[in-house]
Amino acid sequence: MSTRDLPANHADLMDGVYRWQRHIYDLTRKYYLLGRDRLIAGLDIPANGSVLELGCGTGRNLVLTAQRYPNARLYGLDISAEMLVTAQAAITREGIAGRTRLARADATDFDAQALFDVARFDRVFVSYSLSMIPGWEKTVAAGLAVLTPGGSLHVVDFGQQERLPGWFRSLLRTWLRKFHVTPRDSLREVLESESAKAGASLSFERLYRGYAWLAVARR
Ligand SMILES: C[S@@+](CC[C@H](N)C(=O)[O-])C[C@H]1O[C@@H](n2cnc3c(N)ncnc32)[C@H](O)[C@@H]1O
Repeated sequence: MSTRDLPANHADLMDGVYRWQRHIYDLTRKYYLLGRDRLIAGLDIPANGSVLELGCGTGRNLVLTAQRYPNARLYGLDISAEMLVTAQAAITREGIAGRTRLARADATDFDAQALFDVARFDRVFVSYSLSMIPGWEKTVAAGLAVLTPGGSLHVVDFGQQERLPGWFRSLLRTWLRKFHVTPRDSLREVLESESAKAGASLSFERLYRGYAWLAVARR
């Protein structure tokens, strides 16, 4: 994995956040990163299709995607070398290394051809990563740009908790700040405008009273 062109400060920050967290990440996050399994169920990857996760973390989603879509070819990138160590171990343990490739890269600016020898993917997804990526709007555009014709970009992330009590929203925001997570209030607008530019149609769903947002942009 090349570290060329990585924004060093952010890469170091993410490695610092996840150096120890990665060992308890899957266990703890299953209670509050809601909607991830729904995203995976909705991927509907075509036979022998390809799927790329931007900000793949521990590889939890790639493993579940591989189980659900046994012929899919899987790709994942993340800026954190620490997270990728855990992801690679999970992928090897699950016996899916033969059809999975990982790379260290910045999701706002990556060259899929150079990283994976693949320029376009049938499905691209971003799960609870846009809220941690500075310049996340560029990740939306980059995800759309690497879709095959007929492909789709799937996003799940924190919503604005717009139909939940104010105290819950404040508590959640305070908690998330400790992990450098910022729910993106303009997520829907950015997805709409980037989808329009890419000629994709957007569907948008509010989950659990706005706790999370789930969107699909289809080209
Ligand atoms: C909250 S975790 C989500 C991991 C996984 N997608 C999931 O659903 O469990 C956010 C991930 O985004 C990665 N990340 C943050 N900024 C990034 C960037 N600029 N490029 C690529 N990955 C990034 C972090 O290293 C971390 O693994």
